Amino acid sequence: MIDALLALYVHMPWCVRKCPYCDFNSHQLNSAGPDAAYIEALLRDFDLELPRLAGRRIDSVFFGGGTPSLFQPEDFERLLTALRRSIEFAEDAEITLEANPGTIERGRFAGYRDAGINRVSLGAQTFAPRALEVLGRIHSAEDTHRAVEELRAAQLDNFNLDLMYALPQQTLEEALADVRAACALRPAHISHYQLTLEPGTVFHARPPPLPDEDAAWEMQSACQRLLADAGYAQYEVSAYARSGRRCRHNLNYWRFGDYVGIGAGAHGKLSLALPREILRTVKPKQPRAYQEQVLRAPTAGASTLGTSSVVAESELPFEFMLNALRLNEGFSLRDYRRQTGLEWASIEHKITAAMGRGLLEAWQLEGRPSDPLDSMPIDAPGWKPTDLGRRFLNDLLLSFLA
Ligand SMILES: C[S@@+](CC[C@H](N)C(=O)[O-])C[C@H]1O[C@@H](n2cnc3c(N)ncnc32)[C@H](O)[C@@H]1O
Ligand code: SF4
Repeated sequence: MIDALLALYVHMPWCVRKCPYCDFNSHQLNSAGPDAAYIEALLRDFDLELPRLAGRRIDSVFFGGGTPSLFQPEDFERLLTALRRSIEFAEDAEITLEANPGTIERGRFAGYRDAGINRVSLGAQTFAPRALEVLGRIHSAEDTHRAVEELRAAQLDNFNLDLMYALPQQTLEEALADVRAACALRPAHISHYQLTLEPGTVFHARPPPLPDEDAAWEMQSACQRLLADAGYAQYEVSAYARSGRRCRHNLNYWRFGDYVGIGAGAHGKLSLALPREILRTVKPKQPRAYQEQVLRAPTAGASTLGTSSVVAESELPFEFMLNALRLNEGFSLRDYRRQTGLEWASIEHKITAAMGRGLLEAWQLEGRPSDPLDSMPIDAPGWKPTDLGRRFLNDLLLSFLA
């Protein structure tokens, strides 16, 4: 039995309209609401995963998209009830739902809460009307305010706001104004993403005028200071939280923990044996193909839905660092050994070289910040990116390539 946290990611692939910058597996909905049969497909997908999950329990669930808030509270009630029947959940499991402010009707969040959702991530993006329009968003800043009122009315205080910066023609002052507007809503958590041009998107084909890299870094640094002053400590490249409110689900990813992925295009990562054998899974991407294939998949043995591959041992150090070095606190040798099954010798010379370049530093005696919600013990020795390492994270990561 593998004694480690287990997260469940559930992908819900539809949106009202496709945003021009977004390369997520999301598809414009051509009907009034998504197909309720998708919920059945998800449950079947999870049943197919069960043989790999013997003896394990779910510590967090994340309904991501797409726009999960296009589904009704009853859909989540049905899903969560059936999932709880199939596998044990931690008593305090964090259960997050992603929501678009343009899809929130009155009373909707209370319904989600009653279904078992205890954390919400709201896609605010910006509060500037012109920027919302350029980004092709289906909502106004007032809709975001109303959605937050709904969250409060439903006592869902543990919510995140997604913001993006370095938007087309955005000035530093405008980026700061967005952060101020977000902080004024007193969320528990803020995700602050630099807008990137992703291949296959409208913005990639016809790039809008974006601030250059230096201007974007200046925005990031100034916003980070403003967030810190407002009580939101940065703990990952794009994640800021009030005390005790870090996202447990995402922390598990960044610590190279295990997760099951169900739904169209969902990725999963599971440790199958000790010493570590790590399996990566990817489900069929197109919602229709996914739904058809899930019905046809054999029910005996481990899931054959989509594709799966074992990560080569030579790739494990890089895969681990790709996640762990996003965290301000970095990682400990114990985390590394535990999650990869590898020894110190496998990274020693690369760590020494990265320290020599000023990109990585050993923890100081006080260690990483303690957090009552942390489930990993605090221990030394450990390493974290320096300010320079965070500024040039890609260079630091590349130094761990096999
Ligand atoms: C799945 S969406 C969130 C939920 C919902 N679909 C919405 O947009 O309101 C995840 C988040 O990723 C961020 N995102 C998407 N595309 C991005 C891009 N090209 N650059 C930076 N952030 C991006 C946005 O902040 C978005 O809220
Ligand atoms: S950003 Fe959100 S709403 Fe826009 S297309 Fe992507 S997943 Fe859908």
